[in-house]
Amino acid sequence: MKHFNVFVVGAGAMGSGIAQICAQWGHRVQITDAYDDALTKALENIKWSLGKMEEKGSLKETSADIFSRIRKSPGLTDAKESDIIVEAVYENLEVKRDIFKRLEEVCPEDTTFGTNTSSIPVTEIAAALKHPERVVGIHFFNPVHRMQLVEIIKGLLTDDRSVSIAGEFAVSIHKEPVVVKRDIAGFIVNRINGMAFLEALRLYEGGIATPDDIDKAMKLALGHPMGPFELMDLVGLDVVLNARMAIYNETRSPAHYPPAVLKKMVESGFLGRKTKKGFYNY
Ligand code: 3HC
Repeated sequence: MKHFNVFVVGAGAMGSGIAQICAQWGHRVQITDAYDDALTKALENIKWSLGKMEEKGSLKETSADIFSRIRKSPGLTDAKESDIIVEAVYENLEVKRDIFKRLEEVCPEDTTFGTNTSSIPVTEIAAALKHPERVVGIHFFNPVHRMQLVEIIKGLLTDDRSVSIAGEFAVSIHKEPVVVKRDIAGFIVNRINGMAFLEALRLYEGGIATPDDIDKAMKLALGHPMGPFELMDLVGLDVVLNARMAIYNETRSPAHYPPAVLKKMVESGFLGRKTKKGFYNY
């Protein structure tokens, strides 16, 4: 198996999870974030998570050996020897474009630029670059250490080499890739599952059932591990709202427009688990 030098930009839940699994499967990883506190917290979380796995005997090496492959990087210039970038910063087109523009200045031409965007089209992120053909969507799911799928998204300008490297990378970290051949907002999973979120919110807003009962119904009837409200709390209500708006903005179909309750909760700072309050209290 090829060993990749991976450079992860963004040390939130997704970035730290991605850095961790890359190290678990033998890759050298550098991780950076604009906020040093976020980086420190990410490394603490990774250490905790690896420790938990070690206790349960689910690691092939010691957690210390795995952890030693992860290096905190103070900035993007350290990306110059990376084979693959995985950008996992918050969903803002300008921020993502700026990161890749700066990376373009330091990385060799054969570095693959992966973005873990869940809602911003890959094509828009890539468009302003000198080499847009190397930008490819590599979309992970939360929690990264448990969810098997990775969506590989081909933007309008992405070349086959980048799609193929992204697929090889996903397999190397023991994920199952699926290729999304055209860059539509929401890709496959968020496109379909997002409709379930919207319907669940409409049922709640219309007073038809409580979040508890809707979650219970979906878990017991369909065998889902979590109901839609539990899942929105896990993913983050701000992330869900962004994804819904991206799909609405692309389609202009009222069917995709999020119910007011979602926006009001985000405006109130109730973002789910990360703020300890969403549809449930944590
Ligand atoms: N590392 C290591 N161990 C961890 C851990 C971590 N990061 N987090 C939790 N654990 C441990 C817990 O401490 C617990 O240990 P214990 O048994 O010793 O107490 C153990 O793992 C089990 O934890 P849970 O009880 O929380 O785990 P479950 O078995 O209930 O599974 C789940 C949790 C995997 C989240 C499961 O409920 C699930 O699959 N839910 C669905 C998730 C899903 O659909 N994700 C996709 C979201 S969509 C998305 O991400 C797209 C984006 O673009 C929005």
